[in-house]
Amino acid sequence: MIDGQGRVIDYLRLSLTAECNLRCRYCLPEGRIVSHSKLTLADFAFIVEVAAGLGISRVRLTGGEPLLVQGLAEFVAEIRQYPGIQDIALTTNAQGLDNLADAIYQAGVSRVNISLDSLRPERYAYLTRGGKLQLTLQGVEAALYVGMFPVKINCVIMGGLNDDEIEAFALWTRVKPVSVRFIELMPFGEAANWPDSSFVSVRSMKERLAPLISHKDKVTGGGPAESFVITGALGSIGFISGTTEHFCGTCSRLRVTSVGTIRPCLFSDLEYSLQEAVRNRNHQELQTLLLDAALSKPVRENSMKTKRMAEIGG
Ligand code: 5AD
Ligand code: SF4
Repeated sequence: MIDGQGRVIDYLRLSLTAECNLRCRYCLPEGRIVSHSKLTLADFAFIVEVAAGLGISRVRLTGGEPLLVQGLAEFVAEIRQYPGIQDIALTTNAQGLDNLADAIYQAGVSRVNISLDSLRPERYAYLTRGGKLQLTLQGVEAALYVGMFPVKINCVIMGGLNDDEIEAFALWTRVKPVSVRFIELMPFGEAANWPDSSFVSVRSMKERLAPLISHKDKVTGGGPAESFVITGALGSIGFISGTTEHFCGTCSRLRVTSVGTIRPCLFSDLEYSLQEAVRNRNHQELQTLLLDAALSKPVRENSMKTKRMAEIGG
């Protein structure tokens, strides 16, 4: 698929569920989530099959927490065999990864992004409202052990909450072959009304870490992060700027949300419902919707809405 700007669209993100076993403060409110998934795994598989026919080769499974979805490994094994699908990745908080890593790796998940905003147990529990740091660290180990590569760590830096851990995360890459990506807090969802002081720019993160950086890493993957190596490190660090620098020029993705819509752009609330075409297994109609979504990807968008990341897929 080629979009209106000539960008090749080969990357599909699926938010398999808005449910999550954590309640990260920037992402979800406390308590139960009322949003219900409207697509089954069989529906998602149909979408991937049709999208593969249009040139989608890379799929990312996200949420909410995708590991909560029953039958995930079987789903991965299914979409893996669709002609054209070359790469299946997962974004997870890894609270339940220890037990599942092997099965989903065998099924076809080759790499993983793990959300981890603190290396201190009490703080991790506070930021996630009840998460256990130890479980996520076990998940990191399990991912490395079964051979997932790369293992990326998504670390959202928040002023006054965890910005004092930037150096600790960077130095962690000296002993763990992981790629820590420092992410700017985006004023989305729960974080929409946070004070300016919670926003820490990539620029200031880079300035702080400059003395620890040995060299620039070779470019890997098509992601928006620039990558650097800390002196003597096994892993690498990177920075993802969601607000202060634009990465729209090379955007190659479409997103399917957990509520059954397709979103051409994370930063725009434009979306199309896929439910009917999917329910009827209407190949042609779904193809048209996917192509329309690709064509309506904006050149560049920067409006910050209050949609939940868990539905859209972070
Ligand atoms: N700002 C930045 N990143 C966010 N995520 C969710 N909400 C936000 C936000 N407001 C991202 C985090 C997390 C992933 C699942 O979604 O990187 O690791
Ligand atoms: Fe769950 Fe990820 Fe949102 Fe945290 S950021 S509440 S782990 S979906």
